[in-house]
Amino acid sequence: MKFEEISRDMMQFIEKSPSCYHVIENLRALFREAGYQELLEHERWRLEPGGRYVTTRNGSSLIAFSVPQGCYRGYMIAAAHSDSPTFKLKETHEMEVKGKYVSLNVEKYGGMILSPWLDRPLSVAGRVTVEREGRLESRLVDIGRDLALIPNLAIHMNRSVNDGAALNPQKDMLPLLRMAGGEHTMMGLAAEAAGVEEADILSSDLFLYNRMPGTVWGADREFISSPRLDDLQCVYAAAKGLLEAENETHIAMCAVFDNEEVGSGTKQGAGSTFLEDVMKRINGAFGRDLEDYLIDVANSFMASADNGHALHPNYPEKADEGNRPFLNGGVVIKYSANQKYTTDSVSSAIFKAVCKKAGVPFQVFANRSDILGGSTLGNISNAHVSLNTVDIGLAQLAMHSPYETGGVQDTAWLLKALRVFFSSGIFCGENAAYRLSGGEIHVHETEEKE
Ligand code: CO
Repeated sequence: MKFEEISRDMMQFIEKSPSCYHVIENLRALFREAGYQELLEHERWRLEPGGRYVTTRNGSSLIAFSVPQGCYRGYMIAAAHSDSPTFKLKETHEMEVKGKYVSLNVEKYGGMILSPWLDRPLSVAGRVTVEREGRLESRLVDIGRDLALIPNLAIHMNRSVNDGAALNPQKDMLPLLRMAGGEHTMMGLAAEAAGVEEADILSSDLFLYNRMPGTVWGADREFISSPRLDDLQCVYAAAKGLLEAENETHIAMCAVFDNEEVGSGTKQGAGSTFLEDVMKRINGAFGRDLEDYLIDVANSFMASADNGHALHPNYPEKADEGNRPFLNGGVVIKYSANQKYTTDSVSSAIFKAVCKKAGVPFQVFANRSDILGGSTLGNISNAHVSLNTVDIGLAQLAMHSPYETGGVQDTAWLLKALRVFFSSGIFCGENAAYRLSGGEIHVHETEEKE
């Protein structure tokens, strides 16, 4: 596939994944179609050499992995996150205004840029939990049409609107849903979309989303814009990379965690036991003991993949002088002295070797020393499963806007790098010495032909 086709395919994946639950359901289907066998957390796992498996937690996190034919020696893990900043509908969410309008009562999920949510068609997606024949079931919901909108206040009533007006989430950011006394309630629409009776819905996790689809743009069609590039661009590349990889020595694993945008500290986040539980169950299923497990972890590596900031054309002074990536410049390796990013000279060198093997350009990112950056998955996951980790991602603009911008070539660069990563193995030696094996033999028909 060509660069643009890969980015378009990625944006189609985003378009059909309006909530983190849809992300995981679509990934699960992708892996199932590719022959991955589903494992349920509440059942005993029976695994075989050469097997490929997928498991989920809470319907919002997923781990897929392939086992080599022979005896495996460790794990090659790429992690990314399924969630993006948005607004969540409160449990009681319809509010009447002056007996004439009905607005939605929402609260912020994650740290977001508020202003671009104004004056654009929005919809609602997520899940509802229903009671059916004495059982509780969760059902996906996507209203799938222009449903609500957060109108700006006219400039005549707010003359300072262009001077950096503050936006209060409880005052300024409430979407208009309908006229009072209208026919369709929010829950009625959700029930219809879920194919259930409204009376059977016990609770809901419903979120707003931007209806604008992704697009390729620019004088030479070199840019892409789409909702949720952070982090579904990395999710897409990790999932596809795993599907296209073959590894003869290591278990190749794609881990997609929910709740990164709110600190990862949930039962399904990177701060949970999900990854550790899966690795220990694999270990047990192959009859290995704790000593075997710890040896395997020493011969393992994680690429924590989450998008990073490209130099902004209007604000070049916000980027570090030498450590700033650009759109279309390839995979970004992220550094932070205080270890907000896990990258160190060893893990960086290992990942650079992977990129070189893949023929993929890489660039580096560090925050300006006077700007406090964000955090991500790697160091949080390391608290549970401590292994050599590098923080990577793709360069983008307007992070945490409901419409983010990236480079059309970069999705393919990350996909290619992760395909080689998942096909490689790490072997630990003395004194932080490592050997990288494999990964060179797999040239696929999806190779870019530009
Ligand atoms: Co992110």
